[in-house]
Amino acid sequence: MEVNKSLIISLIESALAADYTRVRRVGSQLAKRFAEENDFDAAKAIQALLRKRGVPLQTSGYAEALPRDAGSRLPLIEEGQWPTTPIMLNGEAGHTISQFIEDAQNIGLLSEKGVSARLGLLLFGPPGTGKTLLAGHIAASLKRPFYIARLDSLISSRLGETAKNVRGIFDFVPARNAVLFLDEMDAIAKLRDDRHELGELKRVVNTVLQGLDSLTDDVVTIGATNHPHLLDPAIWRRFPYKAELGLPDRDVRKSLWLHFLFEGEGTREDDAAILAVVSKGLNGADIENIALAARRRAILGNQEPSLAEILLAVRASRAGSPRLLDNRELTTADKKALTALLHETGGVSQAEISRIVGVSRQMVHRYLKEASDG
Ligand SMILES: Nc1ncnc2c1ncn2[C@@H]1O[C@H](COP(=O)(O)OP(=O)(O)OP(=O)(O)O)[C@@H](O)[C@H]1O
Ligand SMILES: [Mg+2]
Repeated sequence: MEVNKSLIISLIESALAADYTRVRRVGSQLAKRFAEENDFDAAKAIQALLRKRGVPLQTSGYAEALPRDAGSRLPLIEEGQWPTTPIMLNGEAGHTISQFIEDAQNIGLLSEKGVSARLGLLLFGPPGTGKTLLAGHIAASLKRPFYIARLDSLISSRLGETAKNVRGIFDFVPARNAVLFLDEMDAIAKLRDDRHELGELKRVVNTVLQGLDSLTDDVVTIGATNHPHLLDPAIWRRFPYKAELGLPDRDVRKSLWLHFLFEGEGTREDDAAILAVVSKGLNGADIENIALAARRRAILGNQEPSLAEILLAVRASRAGSPRLLDNRELTTADKKALTALLHETGGVSQAEISRIVGVSRQMVHRYLKEASDG
């Protein structure tokens, strides 16, 4: 074929600017030109190259040119890091996730046999239960780059711009080997308000569906939402794997306390078990926040906060609003409340209560008697 000068110049220019998005775009134009000229070998060779992942520029101090919202100039998608902290999951969610990872690892074999499912996983559940963290872990265990698109940041107040932003994301995702994480998926449903034109919700949903359908089979897509019932049923169907991340159960809460508060120290198992019982109803992020507050106090106050102080903070916390440690002596009312709390948990003996609350066993006995006498 006659050399297409402007495409070649444009290709070199974008390569030197480390603009992968443009390299891919110009590259596919070039492949198309070759195909039009019946040079299918050249077209195929270019397409194969375009499927490769670029050198991770973040580590070398460059940032890959990311698609941005035209108005706010905020990036629509970013490359996330693989997490360094562990994830603790309730049994059932853990099972779905291992299944998903195994299927993703063997997608070649599965599609050869004609039994592959689209690698789409929907994570749903209340805030702070580790959905975002888990998506990163899945990318890490698949050793794939992790692209995060926050759908709430895509919503533009400018008509038509939102659908364009969604398109920008799907155009950007490299054809192969990526994990695309669509965070805050319910943001789309919130377009159903009066600031937006009626047709816009439909248009955006359609763009998301088209985008999902345009991805090749081996792209892993993970969606996350706090409000699964708000999702459009057609979007819901695009994710054959679904895992609910509920509030952590007692075993998971114990692991969270052991990890975040006691840094895995085996000698603190009993204390972690008590905290696990008392922290029923809190999410992983709350437990992390309270634990880290206690450790900050230990470092700055030169003295480790007592288990009693931490238990009081837990008692005053609600899901999504953890109460950090009060910096004060325990009052008699605190001691009474704590005694009752530990007694209610069942498994804690009066001797242990006396040690934790810091009062004599006779006093524990008296507090409990007072409480039962009303
Ligand atoms: N199950 C868990 N195991 C380990 N850490 C957890 C867990 N749940 C929460 N955390 C801690 O809380 C932090 C916040 O969790 P994350 O952002 O992943 O929650 P989320 O479900 O995505 O919440 P949101 O719906 O608000 O986006 C995590 O980075 C982690 O430190
Ligand atoms: Mg999240």
